[in-house]
Amino acid sequence: MEIIIVDNYQKMSEIGALMIKEQIKKKADSILGLATGGTPIGMYKELIRMHIQDFLDFSNVITFNLDEYVGISRQHPQSYYNFMFENLFNHINIDPKKVYIPNGSEANLQLECKNYEQRITEAGGMDIQILGIGTNGHIGFNEPGSNFHDKTRVVQLSESTLKANSRFFGDISLVPTLAISMGINTILSNSKKIILLAHGSEKAEAVYGMIKGDVCSNNPASLLQLHPNVTVILDVQAARKLDNNKVLKK
Ligand code: PGA
Repeated sequence: MEIIIVDNYQKMSEIGALMIKEQIKKKADSILGLATGGTPIGMYKELIRMHIQDFLDFSNVITFNLDEYVGISRQHPQSYYNFMFENLFNHINIDPKKVYIPNGSEANLQLECKNYEQRITEAGGMDIQILGIGTNGHIGFNEPGSNFHDKTRVVQLSESTLKANSRFFGDISLVPTLAISMGINTILSNSKKIILLAHGSEKAEAVYGMIKGDVCSNNPASLLQLHPNVTVILDVQAARKLDNNKVLKK
């Protein structure tokens, strides 16, 4: 793993966006795996700025999102479909036909998961996969207990995730308890490069486990140690449990 530690959220966002920009410059029809949550919003803002000011062209880019809630419609303000359009897609020149987000409102969820997995494989996988990390070490909605073999599937959200995400819904009872998520195997075996972003001290424990801990399903992010091309971009708070001088590579 390559670890980059920066002063603050803005710098983390800028570095992430720059890596995506370089990828798109190198290959106009890049395939990006995208994440939701509070973490990537700054990076998406920066990509929008690059589109407007530097004419960064998204017209040939294809995207696959990591996950989506089950039980709320795509039009719900807190759906990840809505999140992606509000925070990124409405502000860049991406072709909506090249945007893939699991649909948690499909009647046959098993089929939706199977089709989503197949679409990723047929597209040739992600050139870059963006990830955040949960305070419990989840990536996507792969909660503790998820394993190396998991593909895209319906998952049960953990108590800590429901609590963390209740800030978006106003009340924990309104947070969907199920979601569709790419699995750990989907991510590891289809991503050429993985960029994980984390900021804030509440992520420090999970970040420490991901980088320094044993590879184990109690901290699903630790399974990223098995991937050959992972860059982790941290602000100093998220990195506070690491020995910054010694942790530049693992
Ligand atoms: P956050 O969520 O960006 O809102 O902190 C990250 C995650 O749960 O993966």
